[in-house]
Amino acid sequence: QQVTVLPVPFHYGASKPGASGGPEAVLQAGLAEKLRHLNLPHSLFPWKEPAELATDRRSLERMRNWGRVLTMSEAVAEAVQSIMESEALPLTIGGDHSVSIGTIAGVTAHVQQLGVVWIDAHADLNTPQTSHTGNLHGMALAASLGLGDTRFTELLGRSPKLQPKRVVLVGVRELDEGEKKHIYETGVTCFTMHDIDRHGMGRVMEKAIAIASYGSEGVHVSFDIDSVDPGEAPGTGTPVRGGLNYREAHLAMEMLYDCGMVTSADIVEVNPLLDTNGRTARLAVELIGSLLGERIL
Ligand code: ARG
Ligand code: MN
Ligand code: MN
Ligand code: MN
Repeated sequence: QQVTVLPVPFHYGASKPGASGGPEAVLQAGLAEKLRHLNLPHSLFPWKEPAELATDRRSLERMRNWGRVLTMSEAVAEAVQSIMESEALPLTIGGDHSVSIGTIAGVTAHVQQLGVVWIDAHADLNTPQTSHTGNLHGMALAASLGLGDTRFTELLGRSPKLQPKRVVLVGVRELDEGEKKHIYETGVTCFTMHDIDRHGMGRVMEKAIAIASYGSEGVHVSFDIDSVDPGEAPGTGTPVRGGLNYREAHLAMEMLYDCGMVTSADIVEVNPLLDTNGRTARLAVELIGSLLGERIL
């Protein structure tokens, strides 16, 4: 399986800067060496930042920097679409989680019935109406489900990109009121930290994979590094205590590889400005290894 790494140095979907240094930090932490070690043919997609990004000041209180996020999303969607066209696996390195609006649009241009496993402390199910922050990284999954501003939901055409019955959240521990409502109304599956503590990560991931892959043509993995406990992954903009431990995070990735359905993945929200000695970036590289087939024995 050919892997094409798409770096997206972008932070305008979040409150804090720093996530734009994510791709550089993850590459620095040894991503290419990891892919080589796994004998995976790989290449780096020549990401060119759209020129308008620098001057685009379109913004709203309820959708901060929406112009920049939209310009970036269109570029990401096209890049991912072309990577899918080449039959490689697009591995998008964020950047804040708003990059996933574009990746999911790009993947679903090829895979109509796409399942998604969204591993995150948050649900990212806000709309401009429900968000307390106006940050688009908190609206990324909602947009892919057809909720929110049509400029984002209709990227590359048809909306919604995803059907709720194929979407599973894992690791959730912080939800806004509007997001709870969206979980109930859409019917997406949400495995919280409570479920992981009660049933174990193995059982939760078995169920998550069964739901995301049932009748699906492929599964997209969207991994927000803030799903991992801040003790293990301090370098991220919206940390929440009580997260996945090191082993649970690896197990999740290993099980996703084993299901044989993964078409594409995002690793997002690594913020080197908040990191301690590259610990979080190195963890990201390790977890990518597990997702792409690395095993102890
Ligand atoms: N729910 C909060 C918001 O809407 C936090 C979102 C954090 N999202 C993330 N991708 N880290 O702003
Ligand atoms: Mn997220
Ligand atoms: Mn998050
Ligand atoms: Mn809030």
